[in-house]
Amino acid sequence: MSIRLGVNIDHVATLRQARLGHEPEPVAAGLLAQGAGAHGITVHLRADRRHIQERDVRLLKEVLTVPLNVECAATQETLATLVPLRPDWVTLVPETREELTTQGGLDIVFMQAHLRQIIRELRVSDIRVSLFIDPQLDQVKMAGRLEADAVEFNTGVYADLPRQADPSAELERLRDASKLASRLGMRVLAGHGLTLQNVAPIAAIPEVEELNIGHSIIGRSVLVGLERAVQEMLHAIAGVRG
Ligand code: PXP
Repeated sequence: MSIRLGVNIDHVATLRQARLGHEPEPVAAGLLAQGAGAHGITVHLRADRRHIQERDVRLLKEVLTVPLNVECAATQETLATLVPLRPDWVTLVPETREELTTQGGLDIVFMQAHLRQIIRELRVSDIRVSLFIDPQLDQVKMAGRLEADAVEFNTGVYADLPRQADPSAELERLRDASKLASRLGMRVLAGHGLTLQNVAPIAAIPEVEELNIGHSIIGRSVLVGLERAVQEMLHAIAGVRG
């Protein structure tokens, strides 16, 4: 099975919000990424609305033909906003106002009672649910018990390893967690901090169906254009499973 690429376009909205204007248009970026071969588009609707706005989600849902995945905090407030916008997927992530980007996975063992309710509400609205978690077996088992449709493993620890460090222990954690999640019937995704340089070992994990990549693709697109940046990443993840 070939691996899918979800492109996170938050940074396009970050640039627009720098001037509180209309350019660059994240909806145009979503369409360009889709045209270049992205299998899905991801945005993070943060409580502080620092980049993506509700209107972006509404318009993206209207124009995209690939699935739209919206990351958000597991709060009733966000849910009330998001459910009427009908994204195909919601990925629940931890969120604090101080962070520059998502820090670590959601502790779904700690939050299980709260999440059970949120997941039920999303399911009733026909929205599939993914949980962004660290590659820990107790977290995976809880995702199974909560009947999540998918888990997205946080690859941030792997991506942040110093260049000289041996990544094999962290890769083993990701492989073991992926195996278990797949055995429990969930789709397996991975993301955070992935780049052209470090993506291959993650793309090689057989159970990982999709990668969510934002910063490195949008950063590179400033230099080489979005279509080329998406195509380069598609090339980097294709064929690594031999
Ligand atoms: N997956 C999740 C859950 C995220 O929060 C993010 C960052 O918004 C990503 C993937 C993409 O990470 P990066 O921008 O480092 O590629």
